[in-house]
Amino acid sequence: MMASKPGIKELTRQALRFVLLLTLLFALTGCGRDESNGPIVIKFSHVTAPATPKGQAADRFQALVNERLEGRVRVKIYPSGQLMNDDDSIDALAFGEIQMIAVSLSKFDRLTHRFQVFDLPFLFPDLRAVERFQGSPEGQQLLLAMSDRGLLGLTFWHNGMKQFSAPLPLRTPDAAKDLKFRIMESDVLQEQILQIGGNPQKMAFGEVYQALQTGAVDAQENTWSNIYSAKFYEVQPFLTETNHGYFGYLVTVNSSFWTALPDELRVEIEAILDEVTVWANEQSASINIAAKEKIIASGSSEIVSLSDAELEQWRSATRPVWNRFEKNIGADMIEAAQRAPQ
Ligand code: LMR
Repeated sequence: MMASKPGIKELTRQALRFVLLLTLLFALTGCGRDESNGPIVIKFSHVTAPATPKGQAADRFQALVNERLEGRVRVKIYPSGQLMNDDDSIDALAFGEIQMIAVSLSKFDRLTHRFQVFDLPFLFPDLRAVERFQGSPEGQQLLLAMSDRGLLGLTFWHNGMKQFSAPLPLRTPDAAKDLKFRIMESDVLQEQILQIGGNPQKMAFGEVYQALQTGAVDAQENTWSNIYSAKFYEVQPFLTETNHGYFGYLVTVNSSFWTALPDELRVEIEAILDEVTVWANEQSASINIAAKEKIIASGSSEIVSLSDAELEQWRSATRPVWNRFEKNIGADMIEAAQRAPQ
């Protein structure tokens, strides 16, 4: 006997099942990332203002991609934390809600301990030393540190070296005793503040100005450009020029999104990113110097310059942080970072 023809209801059910299956396949394989439905969109969220090292780098990346890959890839930058804070952006990237971030290396601490090397106080004398380390085989390996989390580092961007700001002049570490310091979400930075007798408070960038203004925290550490652009200098009468630590970003993508891109587009975006990295890392020092000059011109804060002997006190007070984190980071990684300046 011949099988009876499926009724309209059965056909609809089969069609629905087919559509569902297709949707699932697209979601799993990333096939939705071809260009047949218009340009591939890269939503790039970050928390600083456009006139900062990261803001400038992100805007240049957007301009070059949108110009050179017009109609095929479109980058959309969301600056100043207008979309979300850094912590949320890491989760949103992992879930594929956004496609690119450039979060401070310190803030990946909850996912990997491998970037802790960048937070060790007084490890790098300047940005050129950091660059040599980042370009070394050990530094390049770090781009893959979160591959088990589905996140891929594409390149490092500098902000600059960190300074302290406080309600009093911090000439030596004992002046920091019992002050509440806002820090980024990093255990190394937490230990650094404990070593100088302070009270570390992890806090999102967008909350810092108000916390300093209301006295919820007393002090903080950041680069000149962040202190200027986020107006911390308006509510911190003293800034101490310590250059005590590196502050940089990892430009990160969701690995599945990245590998599902058509090869030729991925190669072109990588080339643009390389070009932007060279440009951005050259700009970062001058943006920080200009920010420092604008703070001086504002007359709001006094800049405290330290003698070599005073700096040495900061160096030795924070040195125990190295020993405490050597196991996490690996002695070989610390050595590679130290070797880089030579
Ligand atoms: C901070 O929280 O101080 C920084 O991560 C802000 C930034 O992205 O530069």
